[in-house]
Amino acid sequence: AQYQKIKIRQGINSRDKKVKVSAWVHRLRSQKGRIFLVLRDGSGYMQAVLSDRLTQTYDAMTLTSESTVEVWGTLAAVPEGKSAPDGHELVADYWKVIGKAPGGDDAFTNKISKDADPSLLADMRHLVIRGETASAVLKVRAAVLRAFRDEYESLGLLEVTPPCMVQTQVEGGGTLFKFDYYGQPAFLTQSSQLYLETCLPSLGDVFCVQESFRAEKSHTRRHLSEYTHLEAELGFLNFAELLEHLEQVICGTLERVMANPATASLITQLNPDFKQPSRPFRRMDYKDAIKWLNENDVRTDDGSPHKVGDDIAEAAERKMTDALGVPIFLVGFPREIKAFYMKRIPGDEEFTESVDLLMPGVGEIVGGSMRMSDATELLEAYKGEGIDASPYYWYTDQRVYGTCEHGGYGLGVERLLAWTLNRYTVRDCSLYPRFTGRCTP
Ligand code: 4AD
Ligand code: MG
Repeated sequence: AQYQKIKIRQGINSRDKKVKVSAWVHRLRSQKGRIFLVLRDGSGYMQAVLSDRLTQTYDAMTLTSESTVEVWGTLAAVPEGKSAPDGHELVADYWKVIGKAPGGDDAFTNKISKDADPSLLADMRHLVIRGETASAVLKVRAAVLRAFRDEYESLGLLEVTPPCMVQTQVEGGGTLFKFDYYGQPAFLTQSSQLYLETCLPSLGDVFCVQESFRAEKSHTRRHLSEYTHLEAELGFLNFAELLEHLEQVICGTLERVMANPATASLITQLNPDFKQPSRPFRRMDYKDAIKWLNENDVRTDDGSPHKVGDDIAEAAERKMTDALGVPIFLVGFPREIKAFYMKRIPGDEEFTESVDLLMPGVGEIVGGSMRMSDATELLEAYKGEGIDASPYYWYTDQRVYGTCEHGGYGLGVERLLAWTLNRYTVRDCSLYPRFTGRCTP
């Protein structure tokens, strides 16, 4: 007979056919002289059954989970009352082992229990990602990135790929990773924003999906040293329009993700309480947030009441967001605590046209603003920040050669996922997370 080679997800179209599947043994058990395998190939899970003489070989008797196998057989609906992934099982005609995984004390499953020491789990991340939870998170991650690209496509933004190796800072010198670039000092990028701004006159509204790097000294559950940064920049718009665009991108992307039944089922499996955020998002002025914090007796990290001008620390921000329980556009931060390029509010120059999007359980997932559009004002701002303007000549030129009102934002992909999937830490939403003290595997 002819066996058709399939990936597990294609099983649904191959009922009652002869197929060949190559996969890892996800789980196995023996029952009444038969061996039941749950196979995994990344595209899905499939039950396979070995019976009679197929179970009598040395390989069958010593088979371990995580071994790779090839199985040839017929894909049959499971009998009434039995359950199996996709409702069918591969009844094997023959099979073979490709690579045997260690059993006994060395078995992968013995090492990776939910209660294992977090640093062991981090060391074993290459095996942890084989697990159902970790792989489901990574699949949703892929779906989210795809949906963002579709959403941007429909809104008319073009994707660009800015460089990772740079000689300018965007978000403050304190978190720069420095390295030697052919004898010159250079940095790993903190944000592609400045490059995106220069693309406006060339390509119109643009976005990028690029790794950003931050030498964060703090150990928190939402900071990585390398994270996936989704950034967009738009020209000829005002602050209100920027916020509306951002709301559309977040909601539109999540709607696209949930419109795919396979992805939607992964999301509800990981986070049964997931619900689409309702629009419009609540708007809250920075000054009203300070008021709210004091009225609700939420103190600064050193225990004093908040005053206008203070940065809102992670703990306070989280308390407020959790108490309000909805996404919040926090707008109008003081100039002093924000980046040098942010546009001042006309008539209230100590404050900026800036926004953080806060989500319950995670806090800030997006930071954005309108940008200064005047070259002279920008040159003053470099000075105020103690930045040497010369390496920024190309950024300044964006304002010299035909300026425009413009703005944009950056979204931390791992933070959006942590919120969507209700993960305790962003580390669970990265393939191989980088954080203080961890650069392997
Ligand atoms: O608020 P941030 O620093 O803003 C910028 O970098 C702007 N230049 C972006 C822009 O306007 N194009 O960072 C943006 C987002 C944050 O809201 C957060 O979600 C994420 O990036 N982020 C981090 N995620 C994980 N680990 C870190 N260390 C992060 N730092 C920022
Ligand atoms: Mg920020």
